[in-house]
Amino acid sequence: MINNSENKSRTMKNLKQTGIWAIALFILGFTSILQAQNYPYELSKLPYAFNALEPAIDASTMEIHYSKHHAAYVKNLNNALKGGGNEKYSLDELLLYAGEFDDVIRNNAGGHFNHSMLWNILALDHPFNPQSEVGKAVISAFSSPDSLKTLLSKAGATRFGSGWAWLYVTTDKKLAVCSSPNQDNPIMDVSPERGIPILGIDVWEHAYYLKYQNKRGDYLTAVLNAINWDAVNKNYTEAISSPLLITIEKESWSELNAFHAIMAATFHPSEDGNLKPIRERSGEFMAKAKALQDGKIPPSFNTPEVKKAIAELVKGSAALNQMVLKKADDKTISKKLGDLHDVFHTIQGLCRH
Ligand SMILES: [Fe+2]
Repeated sequence: MINNSENKSRTMKNLKQTGIWAIALFILGFTSILQAQNYPYELSKLPYAFNALEPAIDASTMEIHYSKHHAAYVKNLNNALKGGGNEKYSLDELLLYAGEFDDVIRNNAGGHFNHSMLWNILALDHPFNPQSEVGKAVISAFSSPDSLKTLLSKAGATRFGSGWAWLYVTTDKKLAVCSSPNQDNPIMDVSPERGIPILGIDVWEHAYYLKYQNKRGDYLTAVLNAINWDAVNKNYTEAISSPLLITIEKESWSELNAFHAIMAATFHPSEDGNLKPIRERSGEFMAKAKALQDGKIPPSFNTPEVKKAIAELVKGSAALNQMVLKKADDKTISKKLGDLHDVFHTIQGLCRH
C-alpha cells in the first residue's frame, strides 16, 4: 500500500512515466530482463534439472530453493497484491518504487525477481569470454574476472545475515559490485547503490546450508565458478540500453526529488485556493531551486535546455519569495507559483528521453 498522498502523487506520475517507456520498449521490440511481468506472477520454469549444477549446488538444495522458497515468494507476492489496488503495477514498478509499498510487497517482489535472475545466470558450461561485451567491460572495470570474483565473494561473505551480492550496471553505464540485505536489489529506491543487476548471488542460508553448512565462503567460491557468462552478457547488453537505467538515474536525482516534494506541497493546495503553504515556505522553495542548480545534474539530463529551465526556476522562485515577503495578494502569488509549476514540468518533460 502506498504510504501517503504526496508520495502517491509522485508515484503515480513516475509510474505513468515508466509506462510510457514500457510502451516505447514494446514498440521498438527491445527485450528486457524485467520484460512483461505482471500480476498474477508465475514461477518461471527452471532452465535445467535440479542436479545440473552439481557439485557446485547439490540437487536437494536446488529443488528446495526453487520449488519451496522461490515458489513461496511468488505466492506471497500475489497474495499481497490481490485486492489491494496494487495489482496493476508491473514487477519493475514494484521494484523501482519498493519503498512506497508495504514491506511484504518489497520483500516478495524482490524475492521473485532476484531468484528468477539467479536461475538464469548459473551454468557449468558457459565460461567467461573476454571478447564478449560484458567480458570487455569486466576487464575494463576490474582488470580480470578473478578480481571481480574476489570482489563478489567479499561482498557476499561480508553481508551480515541474509542478502545478495550483485554485479550491476550503474546509471553511468559502468560495472560495480555491491551487496544488499534481505531481498533488496539495486533497482529499488531503497537501495543506496542504484542500477540494474546483471549477476546476483544468493547468500541466504537456504541457498547453501545443506551442502556447505556454515562455510559461506566455500559456497561462494563454487557458485562463482558456475556462472553462465552468456546469460550475464545478455543481461549486460540489455541493461546498458534499457530506459529503466535512465529512470533510475532520474529517480536518484535527489535535488530534483526535493524540489518536487516542496512543489507538490505548495502548488496543489494553491489550486484549491490555499496559499498558506507557499506563504510559509517560499524561502525554502527558493533554496530548493538553488540547490537544484548547484547540485550535480545526472549526465543524461545535463543539457542546455535543462540548465536553462533550472535557471528560470531559480530566478522565478526568488521573485516569488519577494512577492510573499511583500505580502502580495493571493492571485499574484498563485499565478507566479503556477508559472513555476509549468517550468518544473518542462524540466520533467526534458528528462523523458
Ligand atoms: Fe534464495
